[in-house]
Amino acid sequence: LESEGLAALGAADSPEAVEAARIEYLGQKSGRLKAAQERLRTLEPSGKRAYGQRFNGVKQALEAALEEARTRLERRAVAADALDVTLPGSRPRLGHRHPLTQTADELIDLFGRFGFSVARGPEVEDTRHNFDALNIPPVHPARDPLDNFYLSESTMLRSQTSTVQIRVMEAQPPPVRVIAIGRVYRPDTVDATHSFMFHQVEGLMVDRGVTMADLKTVLRLFARSYLGQDVKIRFRPSFFPFTEPSVEVDMLWHGGDRWVEMGGAGMVDPNVLRAVGYDPEEVTGFAFGLGIERLCMRRHGIDDIRLLYQGDVRFLEQF
Ligand code: PHE
Repeated sequence: LESEGLAALGAADSPEAVEAARIEYLGQKSGRLKAAQERLRTLEPSGKRAYGQRFNGVKQALEAALEEARTRLERRAVAADALDVTLPGSRPRLGHRHPLTQTADELIDLFGRFGFSVARGPEVEDTRHNFDALNIPPVHPARDPLDNFYLSESTMLRSQTSTVQIRVMEAQPPPVRVIAIGRVYRPDTVDATHSFMFHQVEGLMVDRGVTMADLKTVLRLFARSYLGQDVKIRFRPSFFPFTEPSVEVDMLWHGGDRWVEMGGAGMVDPNVLRAVGYDPEEVTGFAFGLGIERLCMRRHGIDDIRLLYQGDVRFLEQF
């Protein structure tokens, strides 16, 4: 019994074979060891002792062999699962920054080199910062509820980052040289070039003797750094309540067949300077507001603004 059992367990090559050998030799109901134990009862007392000792020895040997067979199979299973260093590696999928975030970071970097620091303001804004302090009077059509997301009579989702101009100037005396990047909200119908939410970069520089020439220089330097050395910049006369004179900023780049409007700009209106306690006889300033999506789309040749908000990795992976 002992040698047969040891041989069976030693040769068992699968979990099923081990289990079969266990049942045959060590099974509680009809195992061969069990049968040997039954026989112990039938023996004369004189023979019992020797038989019992022998029986225990066999039992222990078989149990040890069973344990060994199980360990052996387990080791082999682990080894089968183990690292195969000859397999080609698989790259972990890493996320990365959204193209709009990349653009914003580049703008912060570029304007930083021109001495502009970053300012921030809230997206939920009061109408004083969004309108009144920007020289947009209560009756102005720009305040129309159809063109703005009002939250109450006096609060709204900001429609422009020009709000941050006011917040910065209220908080510090001149000179000022800041950009503000963030979301703005307007109830526009969504299509390939419009969204009810988009991003602007606002620039503001106020100091003694700041002129329109400074504005044009800063914007041209910026456009060339961001879009390429062959980008041309053009100012068209326009109107904003908070700048005088005001201009639309157009850009034309190599290979482009038409000027593209990038945003608005102008010299800060004396009324705005006065509203924040600056003296327009002392300091002058320029301000600009450009659409970040436009810049990003131009830079990367993206033709539908909606792609920027859908979070589709097949699109995002390309940047
Ligand atoms: N806030 C204006 C807009 O959203 C752009 C602008 C900014 C114009 C600063 C002049 C000065 O259209």
